[in-house]
Amino acid sequence: MLTTCPIIILFVSVSCQYGTYPQDHEQLSADERIVIRFSHVVGEDTPKGQASRKFAELVESRTDGYVEVQVFPNSFLYRDGEEFDALLKGDVQMIAPSTSKVTKLVPEWQVIDLPFAFNSDQEVNEYLESPAGQVLWDKLKREGLYPLAFWNNGFKQMTNNRNPLIDLADFKNLRFRVMSSEVLEEQFSLLGAQAHVDAFDQVYPLLEKGEIDAQENTFSNIVNKNIHTQQEYMTISNHGYLGYLVLMNEKFWQNLSDEIQIVLLESMQEVTEWERGIAEEINRENRQTLEQCDCVNLHELTHEERVVWERALEPLYDSFTEQFGDKYIHYIPKFKKERSYN
Ligand code: SIN
Repeated sequence: MLTTCPIIILFVSVSCQYGTYPQDHEQLSADERIVIRFSHVVGEDTPKGQASRKFAELVESRTDGYVEVQVFPNSFLYRDGEEFDALLKGDVQMIAPSTSKVTKLVPEWQVIDLPFAFNSDQEVNEYLESPAGQVLWDKLKREGLYPLAFWNNGFKQMTNNRNPLIDLADFKNLRFRVMSSEVLEEQFSLLGAQAHVDAFDQVYPLLEKGEIDAQENTFSNIVNKNIHTQQEYMTISNHGYLGYLVLMNEKFWQNLSDEIQIVLLESMQEVTEWERGIAEEINRENRQTLEQCDCVNLHELTHEERVVWERALEPLYDSFTEQFGDKYIHYIPKFKKERSYN
């Protein structure tokens, strides 16, 4: 992971430097402390919601309150589409958008949106440590973003209020909400549906008003926002991945002392390891909620059905390669495996 080296190299000196913060932090005004405003768009009981709170607690306790991380969940400060501007202007110092949403700035990150590219969280995490992943991280820095970590959520499932989604014909003309990524828009065009790019906080109201019919998201986001209460059918398809880039404003980061950077990196590494466990656990629990609620018709895609969807979506790999070359695709595990049989 990108944070490993600095943490290991600098770690040795951390404990003896803790004592060097100004001592009586409760007497310090907000101007004298370091305040990090961390904005995100999901609920508090989601993997990202819990991890951001844990990060704030760790940093506060390790700096005796000298660094305060203020977490604003649920698009309370900024919605999708506003978060990056707010970060780059310095109105907030930290955000954790999904990889799909960074693609407006760094389109190569669409590789994570490619359908059926990964089979597990671990495959995604390993991909991001590959040479292709390293190029993706570096591109963020050129945009004024300092990446601190990648947090997992999990695989997306599809829901809609018209019919079960099993055969390709089932998608015809469904209005699907997607995150802002061209690969996701194209994915639904290839399936015969219509993609609508909308902010996350609009999914529930748009479904309620009948302005969209369908959406894709993780179990945790679906249950946390009660999206399932507006949908009749869910296909457990695990077709696409949802994970987060935990980002700081690059200038803000560079202006922090080495000592503070170390505490932030060390805390982030600990939270990231913890987050990976709870992401799996929360999604498992939320899946059970849907299995037991008798409120949505569930269908789990069979291997044969999945193969039909995969074939229909193959052109996405060709257009991605045409745009960005094959170096990003090359490190996707399933292609590595295929090549080793050649
Ligand atoms: C998120 O998990 O941050 C939101 C995902 C979405 O917009 O669907």
